[in-house]
Amino acid sequence: MKRWSSLLALSLCLLTIIPSDRAIESPHYTVALLATDFEIRLYRNSTWMSAPLQGTSFEQSTKEGFHRLYQFTRGANLNSSKIDITSLIVTSIVQSSQGPFRSYWVSFYLPAKFRGAPPQPNPELNLKLDEQKAQCVAVRKFSGFARDDNIDKELEALVASLDNYTSGRIIKDDKNVFAIAQYNASYHLSGRLNEVWLKIGFPSC
Ligand SMILES: *[C@@H]1O[C@H](CO)[C@@H](O)[C@H](O)[C@H]1NC(C)=O
Ligand SMILES: *[C@@H]1O[C@H](CO)[C@@H](O)[C@H](O)[C@H]1NC(C)=O
Ligand SMILES: *[C@@H]1O[C@H](CO)[C@@H](O)[C@H](O)[C@H]1NC(C)=O
Ligand SMILES: *[C@@H]1O[C@H](CO)[C@@H](O)[C@H](O)[C@H]1NC(C)=O
Repeated sequence: MKRWSSLLALSLCLLTIIPSDRAIESPHYTVALLATDFEIRLYRNSTWMSAPLQGTSFEQSTKEGFHRLYQFTRGANLNSSKIDITSLIVTSIVQSSQGPFRSYWVSFYLPAKFRGAPPQPNPELNLKLDEQKAQCVAVRKFSGFARDDNIDKELEALVASLDNYTSGRIIKDDKNVFAIAQYNASYHLSGRLNEVWLKIGFPSC
């Protein structure tokens, strides 16, 4: 009887703890401009854990980077801490001027409680703590899976919208650097949300 009541107390306790623990944290932003096919967001500074990679395929690099980050969150860190992975994965892409190789930087947003002193990743994972300053980002949403054969088209569409809408008022930071944000785990086959991000300079940012 006593055992059952303490089990019941424990499960009630878990029920109240899990929802807030599981709540997905994502980086904070305000919307500076909302147009029909894109928006401009001002992100606050944020802290990420990132896997740098070189490769020719966005999909392959994101998968590899995610695998390294996943091991880190499952305890491959010097504290053996488990970390709830936020479902937002951002792959920053630097286009190379020569050849098909690009640099990829696969990142996940660190939950607030790990920000001050996050557990050190095991060195063989080659992960980097990545502190991003507050920044202005132009965003275009797209559905389905983010793939090698659609991300560049989404970027072009974003750049076209920006150019049209603002007739040169917006300064692109560096058009060879952009990022793809993926919000859903890969087992979600429909209702997926992705975004292409481009850092920009914008008057109210
Ligand atoms: C943003 O910067 C402030 C001041 O430098 C710092 O205290 C805070 O932890 C930073 N926030 C994130 C999410 O890194
Ligand atoms: C990781 O372990 C070190 C040494 O035991 C400790 O000082 C630090 O606070 C721990 N960090 C976290 C995030 O648990
Ligand atoms: C260009 O921007 C104007 C508003 O400034 C909008 O009405 C028009 O639909 C846009 N054209 C394209 C092709 O996006
Ligand atoms: C995908 O993620 C977005 C943003 O978090 C969410 O609104 C949507 O419901 C998710 N889709 C699925 C199928 O879970």
